[in-house]
Amino acid sequence: MTLDLTKIDFRPFTYPAKRVAIFRSILASLPRGPLVDLGAGTCVFSDAADELGFAVTSIDARTERVPLEQLRWPFLQQDIRDVDLAPYATVCVLGLLYHLTLPHQLALLKKCRGKVVIVDTHCADSVDRSTTLRWLAGLPLIHVDQYVGKLYREPPGVCSSFGNGESFWHTETSLRRLFADHGFAVVKVAGSEFAPLRAFWLLTSHGQQKATVVPPSAPGGPPGPKAVPGATRPGNAS
Ligand SMILES: C[S@@+](CC[C@H](N)C(=O)[O-])C[C@H]1O[C@@H](n2cnc3c(N)ncnc32)[C@H](O)[C@@H]1O
Repeated sequence: MTLDLTKIDFRPFTYPAKRVAIFRSILASLPRGPLVDLGAGTCVFSDAADELGFAVTSIDARTERVPLEQLRWPFLQQDIRDVDLAPYATVCVLGLLYHLTLPHQLALLKKCRGKVVIVDTHCADSVDRSTTLRWLAGLPLIHVDQYVGKLYREPPGVCSSFGNGESFWHTETSLRRLFADHGFAVVKVAGSEFAPLRAFWLLTSHGQQKATVVPPSAPGGPPGPKAVPGATRPGNAS
């Protein structure tokens, strides 16, 4: 499978509409096929994927925010740790990775090997003190094997973890290592304007990418993606 990444919108995102727009632009680069949206929440991303022609399955441990009556695709109420990912070509892990413990992140990525994975997640390092995440700066960094991050104590709530009181937030370096350790080529698609270390990541298996895309250098940079024509280069764009 070859992916054409030239359709991706690399501009930083604002909440919430731009987040969906970035996601849609990533999907535009991918072949249609079975897609699972893990921790689907309100299913707004599932909805976009369905509209774009993917065969969507949404999964969440909770149903409080799921518009069950309106869904045009299957929804499974299930803990994502128990899900068989074999049927899916594309796995969406949006707003979810940072609600898992490190062992559960490792188990999830192991099950994702060889698939296309779209991740949207926070990182824990050098948090901008002006953002709503400034409290993170006060937490100590911990080292677990080759990974580095912070332990996040989950508050109760429908957006939180399911069944684990603490989750692991990687530094960006550690997150990249996590992805690389599971055989993925990584494209950092876009960070958030409001939470600088929150970003979308596109993970592919080496050799899947047809073109490497050069993102604008900074917020306010030239809009839209820039393709490097004919550049067939597997691996990390950054
Ligand atoms: C922050 S919300 C993100 C929702 C949506 N993906 C988004 O990005 O807007 C996290 C979602 O993951 C779900 N979740 C957390 N841990 C889960 C688990 N172990 N299994 C299934 N769902 C889980 C929560 O119920 C919640 O709906």
